[in-house]
Amino acid sequence: MDVSAAIESRRAYRSLKRTDITEDLIRTLAQSASLSASCYNHQPWKFVFVYEDAVLEELKTALSKGNDWARNASMIIAVLSKADDDCVLGYRKYYLFDTGMAAALLILKATELGYVAHPIAGYNPEVAKSVIKSPDDMEIVTLIIFGKHKEEIDPILSEKQRNDEITRPQRKPFNEYACLNKYCL
Ligand SMILES: Cc1cc2nc3c(=O)[nH]c(=O)nc-3n(C[C@H](O)[C@H](O)[C@H](O)COP(=O)(O)O)c2cc1C
Repeated sequence: MDVSAAIESRRAYRSLKRTDITEDLIRTLAQSASLSASCYNHQPWKFVFVYEDAVLEELKTALSKGNDWARNASMIIAVLSKADDDCVLGYRKYYLFDTGMAAALLILKATELGYVAHPIAGYNPEVAKSVIKSPDDMEIVTLIIFGKHKEEIDPILSEKQRNDEITRPQRKPFNEYACLNKYCL
């Protein structure tokens, strides 16, 4: 799969079926993330790959109500960082940008390998941090819900989630987010 195909076929699917997780797979995903660019090569990201049944089930207690679909995850990847681990240039704190770029590469690699890797914000960060035994000063930037896409739509999905499963949510047109030569928005 080339980059364009991975970008186009990546989707935040919510109908998931179980799949086996191996350490080889985890190392492949981690390696893709680690090749991302970062300010001064600080590599401020940390990933906790949770796939052992007992810990995975405990981590699922951190999910928000609207994310019940994610209980079918085969793995949840906690993505962590903190401002001090990356460039801080005045108001520009690069840790979230760099960690987001690394997560995007991991997600594209997962897509290429035929998996769903769906980042979410709907979780209780304190519960999640406690389950994975994160140091207090780290921030969980996102949880990536990982599994295989199931063709049959999960009955747990809301109507909107069901629609999003079938038709990709619309994107803003070019002129609502992009300009030529001068800021225009
Ligand atoms: C930072 C972030 C937080 C998100 N949080 C949630 C979430 O809590 N629950 C959920 O179902 N989807 C969540 N999503 C998925 C988006 O809703 C989805 O990416 C968007 O609707 C576009 O759909 P697509 O990724 O399939 O193109 C999140 C995505 C991102 C990047």
